[in-house]
Amino acid sequence: MRSLLIEVPMTTFTTTKTEFPSLGIGAWAWGDKLFWNYGTPDDAEQVRAAFFAALDAGVTFFDTAEVYGLGESERLIGKFLKEAGDRAAKIQIATKYMPLPWRFGTEVVRDAITASLDRLQVKKVALYQVHQPVSFLTSQKDLMYTLADEVRKGRIEAVGISNYSAAQMREAHGYLAEKGVKLAVNQVRYSLLDRGIETNGILATARELGVTILAYSPLAQGLLSGKYTQTSDRPTGARSMDRRFSPQGLATIDPLLQLLQQIATKFDRTPAQIALNWLIAQSDRNIQVVPIPGAKSAKQAEQNAGALGWSLSDADIALLSETSTKITKKV
Ligand SMILES: NC(=O)c1ccc[n+]([C@@H]2O[C@H](COP(=O)([O-])OP(=O)(O)OC[C@H]3O[C@@H](n4cnc5c(N)ncnc54)[C@H](OP(=O)(O)O)[C@@H]3O)[C@@H](O)[C@H]2O)c1
Repeated sequence: MRSLLIEVPMTTFTTTKTEFPSLGIGAWAWGDKLFWNYGTPDDAEQVRAAFFAALDAGVTFFDTAEVYGLGESERLIGKFLKEAGDRAAKIQIATKYMPLPWRFGTEVVRDAITASLDRLQVKKVALYQVHQPVSFLTSQKDLMYTLADEVRKGRIEAVGISNYSAAQMREAHGYLAEKGVKLAVNQVRYSLLDRGIETNGILATARELGVTILAYSPLAQGLLSGKYTQTSDRPTGARSMDRRFSPQGLATIDPLLQLLQQIATKFDRTPAQIALNWLIAQSDRNIQVVPIPGAKSAKQAEQNAGALGWSLSDADIALLSETSTKITKKV
């Protein structure tokens, strides 16, 4: 009698690196004039201090991109890594490729990796992500196959994507799997004020495929720190045009900010730490959620690192989720 068992081909993955530290630091603001207004005389020293304060606090995962500050963010990190000496060995760098319309073919991807490694002054990075899903004249298949080959060559330890929808994530995952590489992360916006991934299929698909979520703008670009109020100064740069920072926008989110402050007082923490801890608490045995808050100073880096090593109560997590659900319907 013929066996009814169907043989399912097993994928042996070349890379198993799919877990990352519970918290990272985002380096978009480091060297970026366009959005973040970087450029005052002491900005370079401030971000240097942020890097070393993060390291001293045990945060060793840094997220950057070739486009941040037109390469300046990677250049600064490269300098700090050199200065860190032996301590650099435990640091993991994630960077990104931006598929711009005039970039086509796969050689350009390899050249971009070479340029990022040069600016960072390293031989490999822990994670290389595609910054956004529209790849214009280069197909996703070619892009993913090229990145899988770079894993084999050892220049990148893991492949990630960013801003991909659930369907796009599944497609990228499939192409990489054909080459024996596991899709490591999808980096997407996720915070108490941006919870779209919980309902648009991204979180569910990441859970199903075992893909880590890197939560960007986890403090809603500073809003969840509670320092911007209806009577405080508005931030400079592009955020001054964001209506969430207007007095009316701040009034809408005020109940959430009040709750963050209330819980922060109870735990002797800060609102930013509560907001980050809530995100970390979205991880379970099937999914890892890693916030990557931007920090521009030693104080911010230290404070954000203080989101680690303790946990909110289940009741507080539920209350934060409930309050944020009500607010996010209005913003
Ligand atoms: N893949 C993508 O498309 C994408 C998009 C956006 C971001 N990202 C990544 O995600 C990282 C973080 O996102 P983000 O920078 O947009 O937003 P964020 O982390 O939510 O906010 C960062 C800003 O909040 C303020 N802040 C940070 N920590 C604070 C603290 N403890 N207390 C008070 N204020 C604090 C700082 O600005 P002020 O002091 O000026 O208020 C800081 O620049 C980026 O650096 C980047 O690596 C990726």
